[in-house]
Amino acid sequence: MEVIDTVQAMQAAALARRRAGERLVLVPTMGALHEGHVALVREALRRDGHLIVSIFVNPTQFGPSEDFGRYPRSMEADLGRLQTVASDTATVFAPPPSEMYPGTEHTWVEVEQLGDRLCGPFRPGHFRGVATVVAKLFNICQPDVVVMGLKDAQQFFVLRRMAIDLNFALDIVGVPTVREPDGLALSSRNAYLTPAQRQEAVVVSKAVFEARRRIEEGERRPADIIEAMQSILAQARGARVQYAEVVDTELLQPVERIGPGQEVLAAVAAMFGDTRLIDNIITRAPL
Ligand code: PAF
Repeated sequence: MEVIDTVQAMQAAALARRRAGERLVLVPTMGALHEGHVALVREALRRDGHLIVSIFVNPTQFGPSEDFGRYPRSMEADLGRLQTVASDTATVFAPPPSEMYPGTEHTWVEVEQLGDRLCGPFRPGHFRGVATVVAKLFNICQPDVVVMGLKDAQQFFVLRRMAIDLNFALDIVGVPTVREPDGLALSSRNAYLTPAQRQEAVVVSKAVFEARRRIEEGERRPADIIEAMQSILAQARGARVQYAEVVDTELLQPVERIGPGQEVLAAVAAMFGDTRLIDNIITRAPL
């Protein structure tokens, strides 16, 4: 498995493979790899092309009071896990921050509207940081296909919009969320939870499962679905709910009434102590 840590070497390697007629498949990550990431890598390996996994904890998507400093970093373990799943077939791009942000940059990628709700108000600047680093990764790694988790559904829709608007010639594939047996979505941040918080955290997935059940059974009123999600979240005394919403999957705006056959996103975010958990379900109403 080749590990590349400079932008220049990664871009040269990617362009050389493309010139030789190879397709490239990118899995962008921030490391601390878990089974959710493994599912992304497995999906990427099913695609035709050479696999590139990027590992970069992107400082520009963390707010000043967020967990950039303590975000789990486990490069050795990550490389071991990738070696097991992808053997020698992958390239890992793991640049230091100075490679991605040399300090001379003045350009940011802002995707309007899709970042205004859900996580947007609670994480000012987050999606600008994500869109910017991912646009850079697209230009550096030159992928034909990008595989991303639907656990971060808002991020997925923001990046899909960016790719269309900026004419990146690539497909973004979403992979369903991998969950613990009790439903909790796998996340690198689950490691921060105390045992008591971990027990209470199950309400987050329960809330979105309840939303999915109601939507798929034909409930058309988001207000009632949100109320049901809120009452499940309220069962966790230690949780501070940030939002429970039902939005459309184009611009991620609230839906007044769910139309027949309409695809919607039910999403929640809650704090357990200092740990912020999100979960969501993309589902379609019956006709
Ligand atoms: O989902 C993530 O791990 C990150 O937000 C991403 C897409 C790698 C950008 O830093």
